[in-house]
Amino acid sequence: MSATAILGMQWGDEGKGKITHLLAREADIIVRFNGGPNAGHTVIDRGKEFKFHLIPSGALYPEKTNILAGGMVIDIDLLQREIDTVTEHSSRPQIYIADTAHLILPYHRILEQIEGSAAQIGTTKRGIGPTYRDKIDRTGIRVGDLKRPTILQKKLAAKTDYLKTMWPVVEEIRSLDVNLLVTQLQESAAPLLPLITNIPTLIRKGVTSGKEILFEGAQGALLDIDCGTYPYVTSSSTTVAGVIAGGTVPPSALDRRLGVIKAYTTRVGNGPFPTELTDHWGKRMQTKGGEFGATTGRIRRCGWLDLVALTQMVYLNDLSDFALTKLDVLSGFEKIKVAYAYRLDGEEIDYFPASAEELAACEPLYKEVDGWEEEITGVKRLRELPAAARRYIDMITETLGVPASLISTGPRPEETIMLR
Ligand code: IMP
Repeated sequence: MSATAILGMQWGDEGKGKITHLLAREADIIVRFNGGPNAGHTVIDRGKEFKFHLIPSGALYPEKTNILAGGMVIDIDLLQREIDTVTEHSSRPQIYIADTAHLILPYHRILEQIEGSAAQIGTTKRGIGPTYRDKIDRTGIRVGDLKRPTILQKKLAAKTDYLKTMWPVVEEIRSLDVNLLVTQLQESAAPLLPLITNIPTLIRKGVTSGKEILFEGAQGALLDIDCGTYPYVTSSSTTVAGVIAGGTVPPSALDRRLGVIKAYTTRVGNGPFPTELTDHWGKRMQTKGGEFGATTGRIRRCGWLDLVALTQMVYLNDLSDFALTKLDVLSGFEKIKVAYAYRLDGEEIDYFPASAEELAACEPLYKEVDGWEEEITGVKRLRELPAAARRYIDMITETLGVPASLISTGPRPEETIMLR
C-alpha cells in the first residue's frame, strides 16, 4: 500500500499536472482533493496537449480510477466537456465524483464579479470563492443533492430567494429562475449521476487493499487559505491538510508527500511577491517558460526562487521529497539569485511573515550562484547536466533538507531525470 500527495509549494503552476501524469503510470487511483476549475493542469499525452481543470491528470489512462473528492468545487458542465475531450482522444476515463463536493452554480460566478473579489484578488473568475463561502456558511449545494430533485429544488429556492433580497437591483440575480436552474442542472447532471458516490469508502477500500493512490494538489501552498498570503489566496486547503480532509484519507496512509517546486517563482493575480523581477530577466523567464495562466491566459509574474517561503512550506507539508520543474528555463542566465532571508524594518528575518502587508514590506536578501549557458531541454540523466545546474539543485536540496526525486527538463513526460 502506498499513498502519495503531490503538492505545489509555490503560488501554483509548478507543473503538478506533468508530474501526476508521470507518476500515475504506476498508480491505481488518482484523486483531486481541492479547488475546482481555477486549476489548469497541463498534460502532454502522445504529442497532444491537455489542460485539465477538473478531472485528475491520470484520466488519460483508461484503466485507472480517477476521483473528484469532497474537498473540490465542481462545475458539472465543464466536467462533462472534459470527460468528452478525453473520451475522444483515447477512451472514456473512469471517473467517480464525491457526493459531498460542492457545486459551482451560475450565481457564484455572478457574485464573484459584483462583489469585487475578482478584481481585488485577481481571481480566476470561476466562482471558486463564493462556492466555498456557501460551503462554510452551510448553504451550499452538494453534488449528492443532484440525486434528490425535491431537496435540490428546496435548497435552490431558499438560496435564490435570499440572493434576491440581498441584491435586489442586480438584474442577473433578480432574474434567477429556480425552476429553470433545476431543469438545467438535472439535464447536465443526468450522464454524471451514476458516477456520484461515497468517496471515503472508495478510498478506504483502496488503502486497505494495497492500491497505489495519488492525491493531486491544485494551486500551491502559498495560495492556501490558512498558510498562504491571505487575503491573496484561493479559498481551499492546498496543503497536506487538504489532502487528509478533502481527500478523505487518514494521515497514516499518506506515506509520501512529494512537493513540486519550479526552479524559479511565478504568481498569477495580485498579492505580495518579494522576489518578483520586473526587469528583462523576469520577461525572459516569462517568455522562455511560456508563463501564461492555463485557466485565464493571464501573464504570470516571474521572479527568483524564494527559499524563505519554500523552507516554511516544506516544513508545513512535511515533505518527504520534491520534484524540481522547469530547470531548462534557466539556461542562459549567467548568474542566478535565490532569496535566503528577508529584511523587514531593518532587521534580517528567516521566516515567512503571515501578513500580506508585512510580506510586501520585505526586501529579499539574495545569494548569487553561477548559471549555465547550455540548453538542457530533454536531458534525462543527472550527469548530463552542466556542473552549475547540478550545484543549483544541490544548493536547493541542502537548504530545504529534503531530497529531489525528479528533475523536469521539459514539458513532455520523457523529459525528466528520475532520481528515485
Ligand atoms: P481563485 O482561486 O479563482 O479564487 O483565485 C484566487 C487567487 O489564486 C488568484 O490570485 C488566482 O490567480 C490564484 N489561483 C487560483 N488557482 C490557481 C492556479 O491553479 N494556479 C495559479 N494561481 C491560481
